[in-house]
Amino acid sequence: MEQTLVLIKPDGVQRSLSGRILQRFEDAGLKIVGMKMKWVDPKFAKEHYKAHVEKKFYPGLESMITEGPVVAFVLEGLHAVELVRKMVGATEPKAAQPGTIRGDFAHHSYAYADQKGIAIKNLIHASGTVEEAKIEVALWFKKEELHSYQTVHEKHVF
Ligand code: PPS
Repeated sequence: MEQTLVLIKPDGVQRSLSGRILQRFEDAGLKIVGMKMKWVDPKFAKEHYKAHVEKKFYPGLESMITEGPVVAFVLEGLHAVELVRKMVGATEPKAAQPGTIRGDFAHHSYAYADQKGIAIKNLIHASGTVEEAKIEVALWFKKEELHSYQTVHEKHVF
């Protein structure tokens, strides 16, 4: 059983896609164990995107993630990190396969974003590895904000 962090970024929240995105994960049997809405400030953005702060695209990424509230949630399930990344699709929406969240709801490209000096509008962030997930869940959620309960999947699927 794994936990993973998902963020519906400001572009996804402002496009009113939060419910439809969340539905996909619930349909797959993943369990929501924590959820909140948060307006990220530049300091927190630098902590979350620590690995990217020195990169050329970071200023655009920080502007994007701080421009409005994000919906943050923790999903729990078997192989949750890998499964969620598969459902989210490739980082560049233009390259993301149909059927994935980015492939179905966006089509932004690196070429366009870089030319404009803005972040790629890819709706959603999901932890990349089990190690990263542990760090990101702890950054975004206190222990008491994570919940333990049984879903029907645990009764009927597992
Ligand atoms: S990933 O998804 O984290 O594995 O992808 P990676 O390429 O390592 O992470 C890059 C994060 O920066 C966001 N971003 C961009 N990347 C490249 N080029 C441009 N122009 C750019 N703008 C933003 C990208 O969306 C990744 O963040 P998340 O939030 O994970 O999507």
